Amino acid sequence: MANPSKHVLFIGGHDETFQHYDGLPFRFTCLQRPQSVGPNLQGLTSAIHPIEDFDTDRIVAQSCALHAQDPFDFILSFTEDGLLPSAVAADTLGVPGIDLHACGLCIDKSLMRTHLQHTRFALPHQECSTLSDALAFLASCPDGAIFKPFRGAGSEGVFHAKERATLEQHFAERAANAGALLAEAYIGGRMFSVETLTIRGQHEVVAITAVELEPGTLVPIQHLLPAPEYDGVDQAAISEFCIGLLDEIGYKHGPCHIELKVSADRIALIEINNRVGGDLLGHLAHLTKGVNMYRETIEFLFEGLPSPAYRASQKKFEFGASRSFRQMVSVDALKTVLANVHVDKMLLDENAQAAPHFRSTDDRLGPVVFATNSGVAFNDAVDAIKRLVAQAPAV
Ligand SMILES: Nc1ncnc2c1ncn2[C@@H]1O[C@H](COP(=O)(O)OP(=O)(O)OP(=O)(O)O)[C@@H](O)[C@H]1O
Ligand SMILES: [Mg+2]
Repeated sequence: MANPSKHVLFIGGHDETFQHYDGLPFRFTCLQRPQSVGPNLQGLTSAIHPIEDFDTDRIVAQSCALHAQDPFDFILSFTEDGLLPSAVAADTLGVPGIDLHACGLCIDKSLMRTHLQHTRFALPHQECSTLSDALAFLASCPDGAIFKPFRGAGSEGVFHAKERATLEQHFAERAANAGALLAEAYIGGRMFSVETLTIRGQHEVVAITAVELEPGTLVPIQHLLPAPEYDGVDQAAISEFCIGLLDEIGYKHGPCHIELKVSADRIALIEINNRVGGDLLGHLAHLTKGVNMYRETIEFLFEGLPSPAYRASQKKFEFGASRSFRQMVSVDALKTVLANVHVDKMLLDENAQAAPHFRSTDDRLGPVVFATNSGVAFNDAVDAIKRLVAQAPAV
């Protein structure tokens, strides 16, 4: 059994996250914004210290002061904003935690591309500060190029340029102090996301989902798990690619969310994040694979390995989906088309309004998570939602 005197520091996190650690023999401390303190965190620990924001220097200073009173044995975060501060705090204190080097690579897409440039994970890419840089790069890309901020999430500020005019317009509208953009060759194929879990250096692919983007945008709208078998897509090759990537960045412990484009002749990396994926993918993996990535990351921090029998007992369904929406669909109609599957989460507010523009994951409505053991019921539900969306009023 793990040593009950071990002390774990969390930096931030959605309150949902803190429901997973019941009965684990650790003491927990959390630095959390007061508005984010919820019942799950309060149930886990009374050692909750307020932070104003995720400013790295302040969080490191606060972690050092707390460590001096009651030393930490591990420092981590499961939320995007807390990743870097927790990695820097762990590194500063010499305490095990999120690896700073791997974290830096995952947070800065340009650094990651440069790190991978002489490996099989490479993609043509370039940092572009000016319109002429961007035009020169575009000219080298037969299928157009993707431009994105170095640090970003939710597809915010990411665009696909196929011709000169798109870039001219973008640079004409750009703020004078906007930083350089990362340009990447546009990669065709099907999109997949992969949830992985590394336990003390041992990597595992937990779940592969087929991702659909909202048509005409770069915003993911649907994840299906298991990913249907597609021609030319070899799931074993996807797994091998992801494990190799985790080794390449020296990832040591915890979850990752990896995005790929896959075609008959190649697997290409879109990005890797050192956290559980959004869209309730951790939840979906738990339902359909029996793997609780939040719990297992903590449970096996120092010793032990996940038990296949325990996971099998946690697995509830064969098929699962996470679906978000661009336009509002009727919640009643949605419940009707999901009558033959288990609706696990319905985070769709009756009164929600579709965003006037649709550029990032924040503009989506939902998600709804559903699961079932019947492949037929699953496919029927996925198709029925598609029909419902097609009938919804255009935004
Ligand atoms: N090189 C590329 N080729 C083809 N499509 C790409 C490429 N890079 C990004 N995309 C598309 O743009 C979307 C957003 O890009 P990316 O994932 O890098 O940004 P992000 O802001 O981190 O997004 P998110 O947080 O939603 O995952 C991806 O989901 C993918 O569909
Ligand atoms: Mg992404």
